Amino acid sequence: MKVIVTDEISEKGLVLLQQDERIQLDVRLGLSKAELYRQIGDYDAIITRSGTQVDAELLSHATNLKMVARAGVGIDNVDVLAASERGIIVVNAPFGNTNSAAEHTMAILLAMCRNVADANASLKSGQWQRAPFTGQELKHKTLGIIGLGKVGGRVALRARAFEMEVLVYDPYISENRAKDFGTELVELEELIRRSDVISVHTPLNEQTRGLIASEHFDQMKEGVLIVNCARGGIIEEAAMLAALEDGKVAGSAFDVWSEEPPSSEILKKLIAHPRMVVTPHLGANTFEAQTNVAIDVSREILNLLDGKPVENAVNIARFDPDLMTQMRPFMDLVAVLGNFISQLAPENPGKVSFRYNGKIAAHDCMPITVAGLAALLNRSSDQEVNMVNATLIAERQGLIVEQSRSTESEFFSNLITLTLETPKGSRTIAGTLFEGTPKIVKMRDFTIDFTPEEHMLVMTYEDRPGLIGKIGTILGEAEVNIGAMNLGRRAKGGEAIVVFSVDSPVDQETVTRLSEAIGANYVQAVQLS
Ligand code: NAD
Ligand code: MLT
Repeated sequence: MKVIVTDEISEKGLVLLQQDERIQLDVRLGLSKAELYRQIGDYDAIITRSGTQVDAELLSHATNLKMVARAGVGIDNVDVLAASERGIIVVNAPFGNTNSAAEHTMAILLAMCRNVADANASLKSGQWQRAPFTGQELKHKTLGIIGLGKVGGRVALRARAFEMEVLVYDPYISENRAKDFGTELVELEELIRRSDVISVHTPLNEQTRGLIASEHFDQMKEGVLIVNCARGGIIEEAAMLAALEDGKVAGSAFDVWSEEPPSSEILKKLIAHPRMVVTPHLGANTFEAQTNVAIDVSREILNLLDGKPVENAVNIARFDPDLMTQMRPFMDLVAVLGNFISQLAPENPGKVSFRYNGKIAAHDCMPITVAGLAALLNRSSDQEVNMVNATLIAERQGLIVEQSRSTESEFFSNLITLTLETPKGSRTIAGTLFEGTPKIVKMRDFTIDFTPEEHMLVMTYEDRPGLIGKIGTILGEAEVNIGAMNLGRRAKGGEAIVVFSVDSPVDQETVTRLSEAIGANYVQAVQLS
């Protein structure tokens, strides 16, 4: 497996990958876009921080890519939808730098309150001035936290240690979470009105871009302090500059910028403003955090390589790893069923139903359904369909997916039935596990019993004496050896189905000969990879 690292990542954290002989790890910092486009096609995984834009264009060159590993929490530099459409897993490291970001929030807040940067510069320049650097305390002030997630929560606890009153605006958390952190959950408007310090800790997305704009600054207390250690753009930067310039805001501390590195005039002015404390996106830059996130993403790459469930994928539903281990044989079974039926059913299916009977139905069967869907769709798409993009591709194709479960099962301890509805009628296939091996036990309404093999031949015809002999002769003439044969029929002399396991593929010419020789209703060679 080839892994490219395009942003600075802790060496210590990459040791896991460096030690694995199966991995070729290439650290390529500072590549131009054009160079990265040229090289990315060689790689199976990319490790980045916020410095690399993993956008649709880059992904269009990433013909072998299976994983985007973001060594940090924010995924706003990754086009997750474009990755999902290509079946590329996106993972992040959501926990490793939380503490670092919370401590940096406190660092820039305190630096702003106590004029640390200016006093430091003044003393180093040989002056001894104290009065201009008189600061203000946090004690008994009100902090408004927007977004009480992992970082926001830690900031709240630290602010409480400074004896601050903490208000929170976060429409997605329970009142209990706010209480647990010793905070008061309020509406945004109230937080804006009551806070002496406002600190944002939400992700950057369509809802939070420009969450704090000029109309909010108008509502704030005179002399309010503003902190952004989350993402540039959550606070509108032009409005921030205006509020500093007209004196409404006494000071502001930013670690993050809508453009990194910043080059616009607004950002240059904002950064240069004397009442602004600034850092170049250092929230996660501690040795501890950088090691943590690098280890986290390295583990995910090893999980991918070992076929184990990834833990922090942002574009695959997260399933309990123990459940996934139990589900694995059923996922293999459903993949066989999906692959098999996709080669037999008429085109343009409008609906697929997955029915689970027996013990398996007591569990969440969604991972099995997604695995079955991927197998079913793989032949109808020129791109690889996997658990990441199967649901998206089904949606795009207008395929309705249904799932039903019942712990009752007549003959088998577990049974999975797939039914495809097409304009030419519906097709059903059902399978079970026998001593851990997939068995197909039903096709259409025929009861049958065979172990799927790599090369198979499925035929239906009106049953009459001598037909099996003819089939054997034609296959023999085509030098196709029969390994096993399984017959299913409803009644003597009625329609029958026969499934042959054969040692080599059956070509189209032989299929046509067979069809003509026995007047078959249906003949299809099936290949399972
Ligand atoms: P998180 O997902 O744990 O928490 C985000 C919180 O924001 C959640 O509680 C969520 O409910 C809330 N939220 C979402 N939309 C909201 C909205 N419209 N209004 C109010 N609240 C909303 O994320 P986290 O790990 O705590 O990270 C928070 C932010 O900090 C992210 O933007 C992340 O990228 C950033 N971060 C920056 C650095 C840095 O280096 N400066 C380091 C780590 C994290
Ligand atoms: C993050 O999203 O984790 C942080 O912004 C840190 C970073 O990657 O620089």
